Amino acid sequence: MTRFLPRPAALAATLLAYHGATAIAQEDVFAFIPAGGRTLLEAARAEGLSARLEDAVASENGDMETWRGRIEAARAEAPGLAALDQWQTDTLAHYLAANAPLMADAPLPRDGRDMALALCQSCHIITVVVTQERTREAWLRTMNSPSHVEIATTPAEREALADYLVLNAGIPIDQIPPELRAGGASY
Ligand code: HEC
Repeated sequence: MTRFLPRPAALAATLLAYHGATAIAQEDVFAFIPAGGRTLLEAARAEGLSARLEDAVASENGDMETWRGRIEAARAEAPGLAALDQWQTDTLAHYLAANAPLMADAPLPRDGRDMALALCQSCHIITVVVTQERTREAWLRTMNSPSHVEIATTPAEREALADYLVLNAGIPIDQIPPELRAGGASY
């Protein structure tokens, strides 16, 4: 399974959601990396989230399946959820499983994309990360390997990053901006 088989409409929607939510400059070289749960939640809130789902986000925990069910149940009444595709829905469900309940006025915790950009570029180009299609176990193995174990993350953050990468990495090299390609697909 990969979200990067030819699905141009979905990809465009991802980029649109991302740009709409964050108003990042057009030349953002990382715009091709799909939005994580934090950005998806912000974008959904901007478009309108149902009161019921907002209450759940503020007060409930639950696993990924539980959150996916809550998102699906709220979809009809929440304009901000209508545009989410399967990958975005699952990315958001994983984010809420890792982080909810969320305090209403606190800043949202970082999502997998935020962590990849913050933590995975100091030794190698981000392309090494986002072009790999792997299982959750394989991602955790990499992050727990000797060359990665010193990266400052909690086990819960590594799991959240792995969940994001399972769904959103595996980006074909031809969708990577040229300046991030050179020597980038392998270490
Ligand atoms: C402290 C330096 C360092 C940081 C930070 C770092 N890496 Fe690496 N990474 C390496 C080195 C060294 C290699 C090549 C040797 C190896 O594979 O262990 C590598 C290789 C890789 C590979 C390809 C080889 C493999 O193990 O499959 C992946 C995927 C990867 N890193 C993912 C990540 C992710 C995800 C992050 C952010 C959480 C990250 N890296 C951050 C040092 C780093």
